[in-house]
Amino acid sequence: MEILLDTANIEAIRKYEAILPLAGVTTNPSIVKKEGKVDFFSHMNTIREIIGQERMLHVQVVAEDKAGMLKDAETILDQIDREVYLKIPASEEGLKAIKALKKAGLNVTATAIYTKMQAYLAIAAGADYIAPYFNRMENLNIDATKAVAAMANEIEYSNSKTKIVAASFKNVGQVTTALEQGAQAVTVAPDVIAQALAMPSIDQAVDDFTKDWESVFGEGSTIASLQG
Ligand code: G3P
Repeated sequence: MEILLDTANIEAIRKYEAILPLAGVTTNPSIVKKEGKVDFFSHMNTIREIIGQERMLHVQVVAEDKAGMLKDAETILDQIDREVYLKIPASEEGLKAIKALKKAGLNVTATAIYTKMQAYLAIAAGADYIAPYFNRMENLNIDATKAVAAMANEIEYSNSKTKIVAASFKNVGQVTTALEQGAQAVTVAPDVIAQALAMPSIDQAVDDFTKDWESVFGEGSTIASLQG
């Protein structure tokens, strides 16, 4: 599996880059808004510096028509680098842009996916990743679990290289469900990652191991300290 961070928060990216086997970072205009009126390109380049060239950076276009999306895409590539995954909504105009960007050999993530049909069209258009919005689907009474499974099946049936980067998670159960249904990747906001690891039982287990060790080998001792 691949795990990405769904945030533009520099502090959170620095924190979780050290904790997670991070495959990359995803952003969109709403995520950028949370950081205030930042210097956009400088901010994205800082994220790139933190995660390095070997990890993915997904950046979304803002324009809503094909021509505008392509201009946004070219500006993103010019101002950041040409390895960026261009996030394009799987709308009518977006699908036009995806075809053009893939023809030019660029990295593309089809986003804002609520339906199986949007996903299938993006897979057929050769998107590198498709981003189904798990929680937003559930909010609309769309069965996100079945939808992600169907998308994974379609990728397999069509022998496609497209990967699912499931997104829009509000709890840990949604993340694990998406992975269990065949999503190759998930992009998760820092608060949901924090929920996953903020379990008193985990800390309790670690403390108990330490106490048991120290009761035999002395307070403050570790395995390394046995060597003196
Ligand atoms: O990657 C963006 C996607 O995760 C949307 O999330 O929280 O706006 O539903 P949200």
